Amino acid sequence: MIKYADIIVDLQHGDTGKGKVAHALASKPGEYTHIIRYNGGHNAGHTIYHNGKKIVTHVIPCGIIHGIKSIIGPGCVLNVASFFEELHELEEAGFDTSLIKIDKRVHIVTSLHLLSEQNESKIGTTKRGNGPAYKDKYGRIGKRVQDIHDPELAKYVIDIYEELHGEEECRVLFEGAQGFKLDVDWGDYPYVTSSHCTAGSACLNGVPPTKIRHIYGVAKVYETYVGSKKFEGDEPIFQTIRELGGEYGATTGRPRQVNWLNLSELQKAIDINGVTHLIFNKLDILERVNTFAIREEEWNTYFHTSDEFIQHIYDKIDAPLYKITFSRSPQTI
Ligand code: IMP
Ligand code: MG
Repeated sequence: MIKYADIIVDLQHGDTGKGKVAHALASKPGEYTHIIRYNGGHNAGHTIYHNGKKIVTHVIPCGIIHGIKSIIGPGCVLNVASFFEELHELEEAGFDTSLIKIDKRVHIVTSLHLLSEQNESKIGTTKRGNGPAYKDKYGRIGKRVQDIHDPELAKYVIDIYEELHGEEECRVLFEGAQGFKLDVDWGDYPYVTSSHCTAGSACLNGVPPTKIRHIYGVAKVYETYVGSKKFEGDEPIFQTIRELGGEYGATTGRPRQVNWLNLSELQKAIDINGVTHLIFNKLDILERVNTFAIREEEWNTYFHTSDEFIQHIYDKIDAPLYKITFSRSPQTI
């Protein structure tokens, strides 16, 4: 049975440092028995620093690094070949890959899905075939993990209902992919991903809403976006931020467009996801360029110091309602 479940949700366009937050939370001894990925597929890229080594995961939850059972939930899609590639990399890095589990309902990304997305340029997708796989899922012609007969894959397949609702106590951490502004309903459609990236969508993976305890909303102190619409502001400083912040796609290597933080959009993301803990990452980057700004509807507001910038954020959002953390380190929160 489930004791509690916490959710990590990205409040912007992905790449806010969810991986780091998941890594930090999962490091608390005994806090979680299961880490579950609740949406998306190999389009995601989570960068984690573990014992001084950089590890990039795509569909496998980070629990594996902490010796915690890691489940790919039914809200996800899976490319079997890429899954094994990632699994072998983790195996070579010395992690116990027998902890990786896939719910039997997960839909398969086929080579046809991959092929059909290669010329996509309207949205600027990651071309991993996820959109076409979700399209077939909702067209009710998709293939699920339980439908394919692959003895190698079968070793990892479980029924998430049996896993979470049996005798043993389960303490769950949900790890999302992409971000609120890429959610298929709440994002800037059609410049969105093909799955749901809200905290609510975590509950579609076998955990009822009544079991949710904390919701960790993750944002950066500036924003980035990868895709085909214009997002970057006109100031040359965004190039410096991109370099210092390493703002290149972890999955595709594409440069991420950079702009200042939009607080009213952030408030909307906080409201809709029901955030209880708010984490702002990469304050160190703005401190290194020594420029602090907020993007309002018609203009930008600039601040002299990071303290003034932080104070403005506290003043503008409903700060007393949640615990806020500002992080200056790629390794910790
Ligand atoms: P798709 O998810 O590959 O269909 O791509 C749809 C949009 O989401 C594109 O703008 C992608 O660049 C973006 N996207 C997908 N996954 C991620 C991610 O993990 N981080 C940031 N952007 C992403
Ligand atoms: Mg990423």
